[in-house]
Amino acid sequence: MLKMGVVGMGIGGSHGARIHKSDLGELAAICDKDGAKLKWRLETYAREIGCRPHGYEDFQEMLTREDLDGVVISTPSGTHHELAVTAARHGVHMLVDKPLDVTVENIDVIDQAVSQAGVLCGVNYQMRFRPGYCAVKKAMDAGEFGRLLMVDVRLKWFRDQAYYDRGGWRGTWAMDGGGSLMNQGAHPMDLLVWFAGRPTKVRGDFGALNHKIETEDWAAGIIEFESGVRSVVSTTTNVTLGEEVGKGRDRIWLEVHGTKGSAFLIDDEVVETNIEWLTRPPRPEFDSPVEDFMAAIRDKRPPAVTVEQGRWSVQLITAVYESARRNQTITL
Ligand SMILES: NC(=O)c1ccc[n+]([C@@H]2O[C@H](COP(=O)([O-])OP(=O)(O)OC[C@H]3O[C@@H](n4cnc5c(N)ncnc54)[C@H](O)[C@@H]3O)[C@@H](O)[C@H]2O)c1
Repeated sequence: MLKMGVVGMGIGGSHGARIHKSDLGELAAICDKDGAKLKWRLETYAREIGCRPHGYEDFQEMLTREDLDGVVISTPSGTHHELAVTAARHGVHMLVDKPLDVTVENIDVIDQAVSQAGVLCGVNYQMRFRPGYCAVKKAMDAGEFGRLLMVDVRLKWFRDQAYYDRGGWRGTWAMDGGGSLMNQGAHPMDLLVWFAGRPTKVRGDFGALNHKIETEDWAAGIIEFESGVRSVVSTTTNVTLGEEVGKGRDRIWLEVHGTKGSAFLIDDEVVETNIEWLTRPPRPEFDSPVEDFMAAIRDKRPPAVTVEQGRWSVQLITAVYESARRNQTITL
């Protein structure tokens, strides 16, 4: 059993529960600098899942006291590089929540630290483990789409103002690195780089249409990849539905087109395609990046999403913002 830790007890709380339920590792320790949140999480774990990890308010102290094999970093996005460097100095493998960080420069800091320490670093993009998206990727690799031409994405989600006001970091350039594209859109942008590879040219636009935030709640980009694939993407956190105003219904439309066929997906469900076996997606080997990460440590192999691919999606996203600011196409 691997000895695992998690830092950041927002969404990180659910990563800890996954570790506890898995037979690959035990949740040995958790950390949050907010003492009240840490206490609440420790009590909830004990009561709901019978899990009793050691609790720390200081990340450095957790790494010094516990002999961890791996840690999941789930703190605000712009802090990821600081915690990643600390984990690397302690020789601990890490799975970093999405996005890997909010700038390419910060990601280079992570890259250097993990390379020097010889530890694994994966990025927590769970959409890669959804059966529908896995099937699309397998079909691409098997040549079922022919030559890939276009992959288009529309992410239409809803987040209220209270969401952005909570925690004091969402919707800020420094810690969220953007808005609907960097935070929510990071997921489908990861699918894009998984499917189409390295982005090379980006044109973009963005704006804050209905939230009081520094960054954006609407963004759009036109992207060209080294592979020749073209993408049109848009993301927003403004979409509500009639009587459900304020509730929203989060949906992602993904459309994949090659010389031999197409697939139209709503979330990870294939709603139309001419590729027969896409309608019966195979089950992925792991349920989430957390299980994959533990298996990667055990098997001494790279995790599903590497630093290189984590960098590509952030490069693409920051280039959309940069293109809009400069009103010109950005070549990467
Ligand atoms: N994979 C997903 O689907 C998914 C979903 C939500 C959030 N996220 C990502 O997870 C990260 C956290 O998001 P969240 O929504 O949980 O935020 P959150 O604000 O709810 O929780 C972050 C926690 O980290 C703690 N923290 C901050 N700095 C710390 C430090 N130096 N040491 C210890 N604890 C520290 C805070 O006290 C807070 O409790 C972000 O990068 C976000 O993009 C991923």
